[in-house]
Formats: sequence, C-alpha cells, structure tokens
Amino acid sequence: MPRASTVYLCSACGGETLKWQGSCPACGAWNVLEQASAPRGGARSRSLAVEAAPLPLEAAGGEIQRLGSGIGELDRVLGGGIVPGSVTLLGGDPGIGKSTLLLQVAAHAAAGAPVLYATGEESGAQVALRARRLALAAGALEVLPETHLEGILARAAERSAALLVIDSIQTVESGALETAPGAVSQLKECAAQLVRFAKRTGTAVFLIGHVTKDGAIAGPRVLEHLVDTVLYFESETASRYRIVRATKNRFGAVNELGFFAMTEGGLREVRNPSAIFLARAPEPAAGSIVTVTRDGGRPLLIELQALVDRMRFGAPRRIAQGLDANRLAMLLAVLNRHGGVSLQEHDVFVNAVGGVRIDETAWDLPVVIALASSLAERVVPGTLVAFGEIGLTGEVRPVAYGEERLQEARKQGFASALVPRENAPRKPIEGLNVVPVARVDEALAAAFTGSAHSAPPARAPARS
Ligand code: TYD
Ligand code: MG
Repeated sequence: MPRASTVYLCSACGGETLKWQGSCPACGAWNVLEQASAPRGGARSRSLAVEAAPLPLEAAGGEIQRLGSGIGELDRVLGGGIVPGSVTLLGGDPGIGKSTLLLQVAAHAAAGAPVLYATGEESGAQVALRARRLALAAGALEVLPETHLEGILARAAERSAALLVIDSIQTVESGALETAPGAVSQLKECAAQLVRFAKRTGTAVFLIGHVTKDGAIAGPRVLEHLVDTVLYFESETASRYRIVRATKNRFGAVNELGFFAMTEGGLREVRNPSAIFLARAPEPAAGSIVTVTRDGGRPLLIELQALVDRMRFGAPRRIAQGLDANRLAMLLAVLNRHGGVSLQEHDVFVNAVGGVRIDETAWDLPVVIALASSLAERVVPGTLVAFGEIGLTGEVRPVAYGEERLQEARKQGFASALVPRENAPRKPIEGLNVVPVARVDEALAAAFTGSAHSAPPARAPARS
C-alpha cells in the first residue's frame, strides 16, 4: 500500500497530522490546519550529497573558505563570513531593511563570483533602481524576477551561482504543491528544496522572511530548524539604528549582534556601537542610569529609564520595554522587601533606550536604582554606571565579564561603577572608582550618597 499522500499542516506551529481536525494536535490552535499533498519518495528521499557514500570524518570537512559579505558587522554575526553551501534565514518586520542589506551583500559578492537575486516582492526594474540609488557596482549580479522555485533553482544551477538570494521565501512556490505561496506547506517545501540545492551545489543561499506584526510563528519561525543560520533584524520604530541578531548559527556563536545605521546610501555598519544608545540629555534626570550589558558578544553601554507614577485606578501597571516583565515584577518584590522601597501603589514603566532587547540579568541592579531614583526624584550621577544581578534574598550577585564591562565604561569616560562585590577587579582600574556592593539596600545607599559621587572625570562621558 502506498502511504497516504495527503497531510494537514498547522499554519501556526507547522505541525503535521494525517487527519483533519478542528484544532492542531501539536499546539492546540483552532482552525489552523490546511491540506497539503506531500510528495513522497522521489525528491524527498534523495540524499544531500550527489552520491552518498560514507566518509571518514577527517575527510568530510576540509578548510572552509568563507565568502566576505563586504560588511564587517554582518560577517561578524555570521561567524566570519558566508559559508558556501549554507542556508541563512534573515527575518524582520517589513520595511526594516532586509532587501537593502542583501542587495548590498549580493552586489559585493558579485564582484568575484556569479550571484543571483531572485525577487518576487519587487520587479527587476525596482531592484535595479535601488541598486543604482545605492551606487552598487553590479558586477556579475543578475536579478531574476521569478517566483517559481524550480525555475529559480534551474537558473542558479545554470549560472553556477556562488550566492543565491530569495526575496522573499513567502513569495516563492514549488510546483510540487498546490497550495498558495506563503502557506506553511509551501514555505517548508521550498525551504527544504533550497537546503538540498545548497548542500548539493555549494551555493550559499539567503532567504528573506517577513515576520508578521505580532511576531506570529506562521512564516519564518517554521523554517528555523531547516536552515543553518537564523538572523533577525531588530529595531525601534523611528530609530535609524538596526541590530541584526543571530539566534541560531551552525557556523558561529549565537546571540552575536551586528549594528547598522540606515542612511541615504543604504545600511552602513556601526563599528563601535558601544555608545550609540547613550544619546542622553546633558543633565542627568531622575530615573535614568547607564548600564553595561554584554549581551551580544561585546560590551555595550545602554541607558535604562524608569518612571514610577502614583496609580490612578485599578491594578498597578508594570510595563517593560526591551526587558523581561516577569523579572521586573520580581525586582519590585525584592525592592519592597529588602530595599525598603514600596511601589505597590504605583504604575511602573521601565525602558531600555534605543530599541535594544537585553536578555541578561546584569540589568537588575541598574533597574532597581532607576526605580528608586524615579520615586525619590533623586538624580543618579551621570558619570556612574551600574551592573549586577539581584537575588530573591536581596543579595547582589556577580555577572560574567565584569572586568571587560568595567574597562568599557572607563573607555567611554565614566568615572565610577557600582558593581557586585565579586565583580570588583583585583587590580584597581585607573580612572574608575569601583564601588562594590553586596546587598540591595547597600547599593541604593551608595548610588545616592557619597561613595558613587566621585570627582568628575577629566573627560566627559561620551554622548552621541
Ligand atoms: P527594505 O530593504 O525595502 O526593507 P524590507 O526588505 O525589510 O521590507 O527597506 C526599506 C526601507 O529602508 C524604506 O522605508 C526606505 C529605507 N531606505 C533608506 O532609508 N535608505 C536606503 O538607501 C534604502 C535603499 C532604503
Ligand atoms: Mg524587501
């Protein structure tokens, strides 16, 4: 008996089921199953290599020659350049700059090898116009306004393309399926075919994927496990800075960040991003403090802001932008219990300035100080940085890369640092007054009285 050729795919989680049901058995969402005829045998069972034979591991991987993308920050998030035969997914909101970035990369790579830019989003003329506006040297770059996957693959094979860009994966469709482009079954089938093509030919493939407004899974998320590398664009609306974060990378470190600025001439890398999120007013205000995060492979100075406001009615609000709201709730409890600062009758807003998302615990201490600062309307000195994790019993715990963070703060012209006791450097750092603290109440006292208010530095902290 041949296997059933019909499967149902969940458009939310991508789960497969053989029988139609009202809800997806994998994720439980309702009305999300769509029919897909799965091609069995044939294409599916072909192996990745041309002729698969077992290889000794030693022989299987020689030196890989990575392709430079022409943009240092992108090479950095990729782990040192583009790996031939790799498949990279670049996700992000519409209009954030995905096409711009990859057109720049494609034009750079085309100087040395054939490159194909398949576009289903824009016409060939539109892409050409953009390339001209960006003053990109065309080289061996060819634009292919095609949405049929088989057609794209045939062209890429014919040209022996070293790099193939698919803009976007939501617009391509494979003849093997009858569903419309963008449907989960199409996304998965096309991506799977592209992965096989990349591995077989050594062509590096970039897939552009739009993320829907609510960050919904339908779309790029269902492809994450198929591809080698997943990059996401992050940005705050209205900010010209863009961050590219690697959330998965088979060829490099994850959570590496690349920094870009959108300019008239396309995306430009920001090589020294350390202080770009420090666009502070010249006079420090209550509720504002600078922290040094190490999320993303290098130290980064970021301003954290807190606002506490007497609650008007109903339940108090706790809103965190760029930070984890559950952690904020925990910090409020610790602050109440161990810091003597009660915010139970206040609305609380916390913001990491510049649209960065901070996913580490080192911001605990600065957030707590910013909250206390806002409540008391007492200013934290503008020359002070703080970092440290806070435990449930009110203790201030050490974080990784303490010394590196302190060095960066000093380099940016900060005069003092409030840090966990275990993070205090063994040798004093010249020009930086390090104030070690062990408990929350101690930290609050130090932030607002004497010890953190050292003499102003010879050079004012960098502001951009
Ligand atoms: P785009 O790359 O088309 O975004 P995506 O492919 O992610 O949807 O970027 C579009 C935005 O970028 C658009 O709003 C205009 C802006 N932009 C510039 O500011 N400068 C430029 O040189 C280019 C090409 C675009
Ligand atoms: Mg686009």
